[in-house]
Amino acid sequence: MNKSAPHIPVMLKEVCAYMNPRKGGVYVDGTFGAGGYTRALLDQAECRVIAIDRDQTALDTAQKWASEYGERLNLVHGTFGDIKTHLDALGVSHVDGLVVDIGVSSMQIDQAERGFSFRFEGALDMRMDRSQGETAADVVNTRNQETLANIIYQYGEERLSRRIAKAIINNRPFETTLQLANIVRSVVPRSKKDGIDPATRTFQALRIAVNDELGQLEQMLQASPDILKEEGRLLVVSFHSLEDKIVKHFMRGEKVQVSRHDPLPEGYKDQDHIPPFTILSKKAIRSSEEEKKNNPRARSARLRIAERRVF
Ligand SMILES: C[S@@+](CC[C@H](N)C(=O)[O-])C[C@H]1O[C@@H](n2cnc3c(N)ncnc32)[C@H](O)[C@@H]1O
Repeated sequence: MNKSAPHIPVMLKEVCAYMNPRKGGVYVDGTFGAGGYTRALLDQAECRVIAIDRDQTALDTAQKWASEYGERLNLVHGTFGDIKTHLDALGVSHVDGLVVDIGVSSMQIDQAERGFSFRFEGALDMRMDRSQGETAADVVNTRNQETLANIIYQYGEERLSRRIAKAIINNRPFETTLQLANIVRSVVPRSKKDGIDPATRTFQALRIAVNDELGQLEQMLQASPDILKEEGRLLVVSFHSLEDKIVKHFMRGEKVQVSRHDPLPEGYKDQDHIPPFTILSKKAIRSSEEEKKNNPRARSARLRIAERRVF
């Protein structure tokens, strides 16, 4: 295992300020990771945090300090897509806030054997939850050329996706990260503009596919109006333009069906098109220049915030 750099939470100040936790409030941190947001919220107010992560190793690292917060902290192994099920199991019907910070943590990337990094040799795994599901090796070794090209194009925004898919088909089976990274590097030139490793976009695409990251995001967003209290806040930090687009459209709430039993908010006549959220961030909030300097992960981060409408 490689020595892991500590995970620096992205836009922590902004997340805490917009969540504005209060005494007695209940908040969900859907992506616990190293617990940066969870701890900050628990320290800011005498509140309760339900912290979810699909990676058991992330939750295990909290064992050292979780007891400091007693019953104010619940650690849940599972996905934020299943948030409703997790809350039901805890007997919680509504919460005051929900935050997710989507993607991988530094710990996950730095553990070579997890297979997230094209820099270290490791099994081609990429599952955040290692207890179930297909690995990245399963995906590259079994999908047809067109499916692979589509995954790499859509999730990696990789122009040369077809060329890469062909090279994968001609050189499989793959077992390790470097085997795959080297094949991608052999067919994609290094960009003169930004110099980023040619394998970057393909690895990102496979990670998104293996963990069904966009499906998870959609599921969580769809569940959010029902689990948030009135004026409860939804905060999403994303790192990929596709994710940000999904969040932006969802928060705008075009064509959102409102229950016939809810009274209409002032100014609305049509029962069918009332967004359940008011947007608090007109444009996505970006990290400060100082944060970007100290934390490279912050460079592509976008934070969007919405508040559950009072009907
Ligand atoms: C970027 S880190 C979160 C860091 C955290 N905000 C902090 O301050 O330490 C993302 C974490 O979310 C987890 N994760 C990603 N997608 C998830 C999902 N759909 N459900 C639950 N956990 C998920 C990953 O396993 C990882 O540990």
